[in-house]
Amino acid sequence: MVQATPLLLVLFLALGAHGLAVKKCELTGKWKNDLGSNMTINEINVGNGEFNGTYFTAVSTFPEPIKKSPLVGSQHFPKLSQPTFGFTVNWSFSKNITVFTGQCFVDKHGKEVLKTMWLLRSHAEKHGDDWKSTL
Ligand SMILES: *[C@@H]1O[C@H](CO)[C@@H](O)[C@H](O)[C@H]1NC(C)=O
Ligand SMILES: *[C@@H]1O[C@H](CO)[C@@H](O)[C@H](O)[C@H]1NC(C)=O
Ligand SMILES: *[C@@H]1O[C@H](CO)[C@@H](O)[C@H](O)[C@H]1NC(C)=O
Ligand SMILES: *[C@@H]1O[C@H](CO)[C@@H](O)[C@H](O)[C@H]1NC(C)=O
Repeated sequence: MVQATPLLLVLFLALGAHGLAVKKCELTGKWKNDLGSNMTINEINVGNGEFNGTYFTAVSTFPEPIKKSPLVGSQHFPKLSQPTFGFTVNWSFSKNITVFTGQCFVDKHGKEVLKTMWLLRSHAEKHGDDWKSTL
């Protein structure tokens, strides 16, 4: 994650042909964005809208090698046809955390698209560094 301000991300459904007759946007599946990052969202809990998955970012300012990281989140429940959602990625290769919030849309071509924004919290070594730790 390189931008100094929250970045608008557009994620496209990479796999799973839903066809043109799609009316509902389903979060479950494999997604990728324009930077080459990808994520998998597992089955949504039908009782409360909670989900988990993995996020594999293509970009990082951190020198450690990038690894897949776990995510947990929830989508609006009861489920909307173009649901709002949020999730937290617990980066497995740094001490940082990123929260995402967004909405799942079906565009005019019938393609599922996630419009998201994120906020990155870097780990601060001391209280005095708090001011510069949320990008
Ligand atoms: C992730 O969600 C699935 C349901 O899709 C559940 O069976 C599994 O226990 C969850 N895993 C974790 C680590 O929470
Ligand atoms: C997912 O992203 C990672 C990191 O950029 C990349 O190495 C991997 O090839 C990607 N996988 C797919 C299926 O796109
Ligand atoms: C968060 O990441 C750490 C480090 O990879 C891991 O030990 C921990 O289980 C993760 N927690 C969740 C909720 O995924
Ligand atoms: C992420 O965390 C590490 C420390 O774990 C830090 O050095 C790095 O600058 C942080 N920020 C970003 C944007 O990766």
